[in-house]
Amino acid sequence: MHLAILVHGGAGEVSAASLEDRQRGCHAAAAAGYAVLKQGGGAVDAVQAAVAVLEDNPLFNAGTGSTLNREGRVETDAAIMDGATLKAGAVAAVSGIRNPIRLARRVMDSSRHILLAAEGALRFARQQGIEVCDPRELVVPGQRTRWEREHGTVGAVALDSHGRLAAATSTGGIFDKLPGRVGDTPLIGCGTYADARGAVSCTGHGEDIIRTTLARSAVHLLEQGLDAPAAAELAIRHFVDMTHSEAGLIMLDHQGRMGYARSTTHLPVCGMTADGTLISAA
Ligand code: GLY
Repeated sequence: MHLAILVHGGAGEVSAASLEDRQRGCHAAAAAGYAVLKQGGGAVDAVQAAVAVLEDNPLFNAGTGSTLNREGRVETDAAIMDGATLKAGAVAAVSGIRNPIRLARRVMDSSRHILLAAEGALRFARQQGIEVCDPRELVVPGQRTRWEREHGTVGAVALDSHGRLAAATSTGGIFDKLPGRVGDTPLIGCGTYADARGAVSCTGHGEDIIRTTLARSAVHLLEQGLDAPAAAELAIRHFVDMTHSEAGLIMLDHQGRMGYARSTTHLPVCGMTADGTLISAA
């Protein structure tokens, strides 16, 4: 049994104290996903559970605690992908959803579509009985006074006991973005991707991640024979060569090997494997 889960709390530069808090948050998220896998749950349920924990933690730029756009509002993006079926669900530029990853999952399971945006996504949420809140409830005081983006997106990848891979990513996007801006996170193959060979969740500068289809590019390296640790490093090296920009990613291959790499100073990561091994990196 190769089951494994790996989560990230976003690429960026943070203080040592803040980094420790984020690592604790990542650990809690990984533990939530791991509990699902240990009980025989699927990889899709595990990544959703892990990302929902990070969305609920105001330290991270996703769900509650999301960064603000130019008008001082939260607009979130999220995606989830089932590597076993290539089914995916995503939402973009949605306000007033506490857990966008749950809405993305609903798009995957209960609609004919992959990506719903803005007002249409909200209407779908109401039809599906997903909790809708006042968007102001997602704004935490620290974000009100913050003028620079210092932390990123959250994400998780998992491999379940049946060998199925899944990926999930959620974000408030980048600080001071134009209303309606959509980043890499909900775009399948850019910020989020999973198939039978690998699962990837990205973080960093969305426009540059979109240009380089970073998540799918990383899985392509698995197809060429690399394992997840090598593929993650090489994908980020290629990304930097092409864009000179900032990004990080986490990935799992079908044997449960974990890869993570970044071109930023920090990327809090926490992983757990079937034998209880805990991987933690910053
Ligand atoms: N990577 C998150 C974003 O740019 O929206």
